[in-house]
Amino acid sequence: MEIFHKPVFLRESVEYLNIDAGKIVVDCTVGEGGHSEEILRKIGPGGFLIGIDLDAKALDKSSVRLKEIGSNFILIEGNFRDILVIVKPIISKVDAVLADLGLSSLQLMDGERGFSFMKEGPLDMRMCPLCTRFSAYDVVNSFKESEISEILFYYGEEPLSRKIAKRIIEIRTKTPIRTTIQLAEIVQSIFPRRYYKTNPATRTFQALRIFVNDELENLKRFLAQVPEILNFGGRVAIISYHSLEDRLVKNAFKNDEELNRVNKKVIVPSYEEVQSNRRARSAKLRVAERI
Ligand SMILES: C[S@@+](CC[C@H](N)C(=O)[O-])C[C@H]1O[C@@H](n2cnc3c(N)ncnc32)[C@H](O)[C@@H]1O
Repeated sequence: MEIFHKPVFLRESVEYLNIDAGKIVVDCTVGEGGHSEEILRKIGPGGFLIGIDLDAKALDKSSVRLKEIGSNFILIEGNFRDILVIVKPIISKVDAVLADLGLSSLQLMDGERGFSFMKEGPLDMRMCPLCTRFSAYDVVNSFKESEISEILFYYGEEPLSRKIAKRIIEIRTKTPIRTTIQLAEIVQSIFPRRYYKTNPATRTFQALRIFVNDELENLKRFLAQVPEILNFGGRVAIISYHSLEDRLVKNAFKNDEELNRVNKKVIVPSYEEVQSNRRARSAKLRVAERI
């Protein structure tokens, strides 16, 4: 089976979560199963893994991979914002919870999903097409200029959000903006070439993806529920990839009276990890313990 996704903070997340034989663990973002595979190995046949992901395609793939390690796991298609509803009917408390936020390489590389500004595809970006109200196409082609500008500013921290929104409206009054590459070119046309460090479409695509999938609200709800599912001494580890997510995690861990921060200083990837895995360059890991 071909694996596209290289897990970030694989060793650190398993170590910080104190995962060893017999533990009960929830992996809230199974994806291609990189972390789950390592967790299954560490907990051995006496432990149990509950794996969650929004994306049914990802679960189909990881299930094949995990079956090669053991059978002491269950995979559930669902949103981690409902972690209590998902986990409580199976078990009341667990020892460790992992969330590795964002997208997997499998999702990013699949042009048909519309996540990447480098791959031609429909403007979609829904991780779970049945559970989202809008696709990126709907936002770009039917939202008001001011709404588009706010989405780009708030979720993408895009300084030229107004200009981009204005250009989108100008173009879409002539013809709908249907594809990822069309949108990427519209955004790029706003930026003088010499100012590029990263592709200027990065922030617009991030913003649309976060909005379409309601990612910050998912994370807020998850953070509010997670202490209730943890045993005393149990741990939660969250890997985030942009500052909006990391800020939410940082504040929740700092302010929640039932949680103690294991690392006061955020953990960043080693030079070696960043060299061998580009996805790791923006990753941050925070860990807290239930008290
Ligand atoms: C970075 S990938 C995880 C990769 C995984 N750790 C691995 O090693 O293969 C993030 C995954 O989280 C899933 N996801 C994102 N938001 C989610 C949510 N609110 N609930 C459940 N799964 C979510 C995505 O579908 C994606 O498969």
